[in-house]
Amino acid sequence: TEYPHINKGLDGIVAFSTTKSFIDGKSGELIYSGYNIDTLAENATFEEVCFLLWNDRLPNQQELENLKNELISQRELPSPVLEYIKTTSKDAEPMAVLRSAVSMLADFEKPDTGSGDEESIHHAVSITAQMPTIIAAFDRVRNGKDIIAPKKEGSTAFNFLYMLNGEEPGEAAEKTMDLCLILHAEHGMNASTFTARTICATESDMFSAITGAIGALKGPLHGGANTAVMNMLLNLKEQGEKADPVAFTKEKLSRREKIMGFGHRVYKTFDPRAFHLRKMSKKLSEETGQQKLYEWSEAMVKTMKEEKDIDPNVDFFSATVYYSIGIKPDLYTCIFAMSRISGWSAHYMEQAANNRLVRPRALYIAEKNLDWTPVEDR
Ligand code: CMC
Repeated sequence: TEYPHINKGLDGIVAFSTTKSFIDGKSGELIYSGYNIDTLAENATFEEVCFLLWNDRLPNQQELENLKNELISQRELPSPVLEYIKTTSKDAEPMAVLRSAVSMLADFEKPDTGSGDEESIHHAVSITAQMPTIIAAFDRVRNGKDIIAPKKEGSTAFNFLYMLNGEEPGEAAEKTMDLCLILHAEHGMNASTFTARTICATESDMFSAITGAIGALKGPLHGGANTAVMNMLLNLKEQGEKADPVAFTKEKLSRREKIMGFGHRVYKTFDPRAFHLRKMSKKLSEETGQQKLYEWSEAMVKTMKEEKDIDPNVDFFSATVYYSIGIKPDLYTCIFAMSRISGWSAHYMEQAANNRLVRPRALYIAEKNLDWTPVEDR
């Protein structure tokens, strides 16, 4: 029998056209709707990036003001969602709580029909506004602290850190968080965005698409890698004087284990986002007296290059950046989601505007037309 070629992991398959982002994996170039990630990292705010991804152009001053105000006005959660956060298991994974809470938000909104109508942009704004509130609230509750209501002012980054820590962040922490949100906002047909578009393509609603996307992001081969990176570095830290990142890396490789935060399906060079995060990681770890974590990271980068010719991805240096601003490792993937909601919802609207059901094929590799055996004879 001649079997058709199976493209395992859909590697290299182009299934959609998009105006949202462009990635050149060879040269390490990333563009969001026309703007290079370096330009955005130096000049934009997360709110501007949201507008850019949703509208394919930058906002003027009035439009930006309107979007910021709309985001601020949507930050509060419906009380049953807050009740869920208060009463769910304190040991639940934050990404699982985020997934369930976002799913619940749909119950309080008019369903959108997947046709990309104006409900969709309203939902994109409201989910973007509410995700930080969900994450911060759950972190407070599980630590036995009171939930802090969102501020009626300030950026997404500022308000998130405020709700999480109970005090207003300094300018540097806000800027760091904002830059992280910009860098994670959009990245082509990654697994979670593909999931969101696939759900949209059945004409299902945006909440379903985002709930599915959060589930896809959670896995350690995708967004879950940033938490795994930090746990790996903290394991090294526990070894005290004996910690040896080079030997650790080599040993893991010799067991054919993956090192989290390295490698990428598309980038075969340094991830352009990692340059910005590396710079931030260096600066912040010096400021917070955590130089060792940064030095170990660099030692691992060097070893991975020498041993496997593999470079770090976005998740590697983001871990130490979040650690330096005092965020718990198991929240890192939630922060990724809090940013990527902009890209997911942009893709949802793009898919809805020019839809076709996503429905690939699978090659059947088992027997056919077997004889039936009654249950008592099996
Ligand atoms: N550590 C060690 N070896 C690796 C790694 C790694 N992190 N990544 C790839 N390789 C090796 C892999 O073992 C394979 O070697 P060989 O050909 O000898 O079997 C080769 O490189 C090709 O790897 P692959 O798994 O076929 O590549 P892929 O395109 O299917 O996987 C990946 C991409 C991201 C799943 C993978 O690199 C990986 O598992 N990395 C670790 C997890 C991670 O950091 N994920 C975050 C991805 S980027 C942002 C995001 O989505 O959050």
